[in-house]
Amino acid sequence: MPSKPTNSPIKKPKPPVKWAGGKTQLLPQFAPLFPRKKYNLYLEPFVGGGAVFFHLLPPAAILIDSNGELINFYRVVRDRLDQLLADLKKHKNTREYYYSIRALDPEKLSPVQRASRFLYLNKTAYNGLWRVNSKGQFNVPYGRYKNPRIIDKENLQLVAEALRGAELIAGDFSCVLDLAPPGAFVYFDPPYYPLTETANFTSYTPGAFTREDQIRLFKAFAELDRRGCLVMLSNSDTPFIRTLYAQYDIQVVTARRAINCRPEGRGPVTELVIRNY
Ligand SMILES: C[S@@+](CC[C@H](N)C(=O)[O-])C[C@H]1O[C@@H](n2cnc3c(N)ncnc32)[C@H](O)[C@@H]1O
Repeated sequence: MPSKPTNSPIKKPKPPVKWAGGKTQLLPQFAPLFPRKKYNLYLEPFVGGGAVFFHLLPPAAILIDSNGELINFYRVVRDRLDQLLADLKKHKNTREYYYSIRALDPEKLSPVQRASRFLYLNKTAYNGLWRVNSKGQFNVPYGRYKNPRIIDKENLQLVAEALRGAELIAGDFSCVLDLAPPGAFVYFDPPYYPLTETANFTSYTPGAFTREDQIRLFKAFAELDRRGCLVMLSNSDTPFIRTLYAQYDIQVVTARRAINCRPEGRGPVTELVIRNY
């Protein structure tokens, strides 16, 4: 029998959910921008699909997101993957079934059923979007995908392993201020400041991310900088963001992103990466 290669590369998980603003495509441009210095703890206060976390695979991490459904899902993958995999088998890809699952109140489900519903809806909803109405109820229509891959067991196992050393918190990004010690690396990927007054792509959870929230975030960035943390932040390439962070290092990266529903508006856009190191 051929012997196993001794230094085969670690297999990295892919983000387990489709998420607006996912950073997978930007990772090659981010690679030279991550800290060279060693850090003892990684914190990601707008973790979303977690593309950067699953790429860096830090041994100790605190992951935060205001979306409680997403954080419950990560907790269940980490702590009860077998139960989740068993529950996922019940799902069917039909319109009637989709709307019956969508209608369930997640608060009345067990954590495992809630995570199972979350992943099912993420894989079968139109565009894989997670959007809620003003009451916080998921309201994306059925996506009519022929063969959505709802259960990717091998990837979920890699995700569970990656999350083993992670603390998961459902809440506002500002709790990072109570949790980040000097020397920690904090990566912020907030809902972006809109390119135009009318653009509104910030409705992940009820209550959009406002201009005041962007200023609150800037103050958190500055506080972590004074504390001696390594801080990196992504945002839109807009005069408001450039002015707000003018005292820090600003790099430009290029994204192929559909930030506009008109097809002619789907060309590459520039985005900013702001760092205090
Ligand atoms: C641009 S997405 C992050 C995308 C992520 N980096 C990825 O690669 O998938 C922004 C995230 O911030 C979360 N969010 C919005 N407002 C928040 C707040 N006030 N505090 C913490 N998280 C928030 C949203 O639920 C969403 O998951």
